[in-house]
Amino acid sequence: MKLGLIGCGKMGRALLEGALKAGIVKAEDVYVSSRTAETRQALSDELGVNAVESNVEVVQNSNAVYLCTKPHIIPLVLVELNEEPECLNDVLLISAAAGLTLETLESPLPHGTRMVRCMPNTPSLIGKGAAAYTLGTHANDADAETTCKLLGAAGSVIEVPEKLMDAVTGVSGSGPAYVYTFIEALADGGVFEGLPRQQALELATQTVLGAASMVAETGLHPAILRDMVCSPGGTTITAVKALEDNGFRSAAINAVSASANKARELGRK
Ligand SMILES: NC(=O)c1ccc[n+]([C@@H]2O[C@H](COP(=O)([O-])OP(=O)(O)OC[C@H]3O[C@@H](n4cnc5c(N)ncnc54)[C@H](OP(=O)(O)O)[C@@H]3O)[C@@H](O)[C@H]2O)c1
Repeated sequence: MKLGLIGCGKMGRALLEGALKAGIVKAEDVYVSSRTAETRQALSDELGVNAVESNVEVVQNSNAVYLCTKPHIIPLVLVELNEEPECLNDVLLISAAAGLTLETLESPLPHGTRMVRCMPNTPSLIGKGAAAYTLGTHANDADAETTCKLLGAAGSVIEVPEKLMDAVTGVSGSGPAYVYTFIEALADGGVFEGLPRQQALELATQTVLGAASMVAETGLHPAILRDMVCSPGGTTITAVKALEDNGFRSAAINAVSASANKARELGRK
């Protein structure tokens, strides 16, 4: 597969490195664009990919292209690609931009352009991403397969109806940041209770990793797993009450909703 990336910042690079590490693309078959010579040099030195200035050149040399610039830049990129419409004849475009609808993505492009809207997350960098996608109007079964192969190389992938993409942004697109905050806070608690910072961080990180793996590997509902570790009148149920007293659950729900609303707002601009 010949893969392209327009925008190779935090998210684009995570998706690219995930695909390279999984071996589904070879570095010499990858074209990425960057406006700055320094970044192009770094991408080519560090990853061995072809780094070019022109977004059109990326599309001309690819079967599938991730659109990974900030959402407000994507319309400018689409205008640029539309100036050389023949480059869009035989390529799949996969937008990772928060909020931008398929209608916004497809309408400036020639009729028939194959588009997918996806929402990945940055743990893709280490093959532990969580992504969702929606097929555009002209995307076909082979495009669904390509999308699953690319996103699947960097973690787990599900298909959702487009109306749920902003909810996905709230849960998994922005989710790593909530979890980093929780890990840090858990470690802070340990430090408050006297643990050295490094040990507190190690315990907190492994606890989140272990608990997440328990949910994933046992398939049990998190509430069942939590009940299993809360002995009557014990330390853990006392701590769970403290979390509930402080609005932990509604803070998480509100965070997801705030991110989804922000994505909707980006889509309206
Ligand atoms: N970060 C996340 O956790 C995350 C999660 C899910 C989805 N996303 C989505 O991923 C997209 C990228 O986010 P990000 O966090 O990776 O942003 P970022 O780190 O700022 O990367 C965006 C890249 O776009 C490049 N760029 C800017 N203008 C360009 C243009 N006209 N043509 C080609 N490239 C251009 C910039 O590189 P140069 O300046 O070198 O050109 C920059 O490195 C966003 O749409 C976001 O909604 C991000």
